[in-house]
Amino acid sequence: MTDHPLRNTPAMDAFWMPFTANRQFKAAPRLLVSAEGMHYTADDGRSVLDGTAGLWCVNAGHGRRGIAAAVERQLATLDFAPTFQMGHPIAFEFAERLAEIAPGGPDKRLDRVFFTNSGSESVDTALKIALAYQRAIGQGTRTRLIGRERGYHGVGFGGLSVGGIVSNRRVFPQLNGTDHLRHTHDPARNAFVKGQPEHGAELAEDLERLVALHGAETIAACIVEPVAGSTGVLIPPKGYLERLREICTKHGILLIFDEVISGFGRLGAPFATDFFGVVPDLVTSAKGLTNGTVPMGAVFASRAVHDGLMHGPDGIELFHGYTYSGHPVACAAGIATLDIYRDEGLLTRVTDIADDWAAAMHDLRGRKNVIDIRTIGLIAGIELAPRPDAPGKRAYEVFVDCFERGLLTRVTGDIIALSPPLIIERGQIGEIVDVLGAAIDRAA
Ligand SMILES: Cc1ncc(COP(=O)(O)O)c(C=O)c1O
Repeated sequence: MTDHPLRNTPAMDAFWMPFTANRQFKAAPRLLVSAEGMHYTADDGRSVLDGTAGLWCVNAGHGRRGIAAAVERQLATLDFAPTFQMGHPIAFEFAERLAEIAPGGPDKRLDRVFFTNSGSESVDTALKIALAYQRAIGQGTRTRLIGRERGYHGVGFGGLSVGGIVSNRRVFPQLNGTDHLRHTHDPARNAFVKGQPEHGAELAEDLERLVALHGAETIAACIVEPVAGSTGVLIPPKGYLERLREICTKHGILLIFDEVISGFGRLGAPFATDFFGVVPDLVTSAKGLTNGTVPMGAVFASRAVHDGLMHGPDGIELFHGYTYSGHPVACAAGIATLDIYRDEGLLTRVTDIADDWAAAMHDLRGRKNVIDIRTIGLIAGIELAPRPDAPGKRAYEVFVDCFERGLLTRVTGDIIALSPPLIIERGQIGEIVDVLGAAIDRAA
């Protein structure tokens, strides 16, 4: 690569990078130095099309002036104030704004909002709310938490314990009393499907199996991603989420949807809850909440769950929270983000482009080693056949190749995941397919 005025590679020893092959990365770094709209600029001046909305978070695209201005104003007005036994108006204002678009509307809106700082914290918060709620309604024996194989719920000990990715789990002890549903990934029956696959609703019956094994009275909650992202875009079979809802209701188990990636317009509705028309009791969110600008998460709770904890003697109802729950600067970023989503119709824009997106992605079918393509909303998972001697290597090569040719993708194992900002234009969809297709050919 040629030298460029922007290039100023810093010393790299001190930053211990997350979820990164540190030694490999530092030997051949990939640095992004600025961003605008659909594009990053790399440190050698190349423009890089953002095929992943950063990390599934920059839904309104980069460099939004309205967010920057709101953050600057808020920093100058009230930089920080506590929310433990104290309050500041903007946290209440943001929660009210979120309540208006909360998942489950109009009849069953989960319009009680608990603020956190990340997806992981949202997950652990939702699990704790579920446990506290069960106890508060006299169901204190319900302490078990059910997740799903291949689920990703962040990296806290709660999320890790209900998650189902072996490399995240094997080194760390987990919460007692968790169990897992089988995952729904079934390429033998469901390969190359646009939208929800036909086969697999019966896998929800796995929850009945766990009820029979453990006893319903021991189970507090079941958490799933409506669409699993981090484990390679796993789309729920038709009828699956509906059936999970029925079984949870029947047995008094709270249903939690982890919408950290599916929230805020990714599927063409404000939340996956609305897209699928299945309403859980709690929804976790983060990422698109502030367009990725300031770290923040939020848990949406039903009135029933919230009100269930508002009984008893006057005093703190839930012994849980973070110093930065409802941070004023994050709230300012969040409100400005919601303004953009509203003004530009971004929470539903994907309905206009989802068919073109799916058609373009499925055009990659037939390329060498492509064994499955899955699409829903503005998400695609393209699965490659692993090299027999080196699983994950082929997709990693595609990722590096794409980056060098100006496209940011994301890989897990041999699956390439795409989730661009919701402002993407049709021409840019074509660009993604061209660059990616050529890279897949080269990795053959
Ligand atoms: C479904 C889901 N839950 C939780 C998380 C964790 O979020 P964070 O990295 O903000 O802690 C992620 C992150 O990708 C996610 O995809």
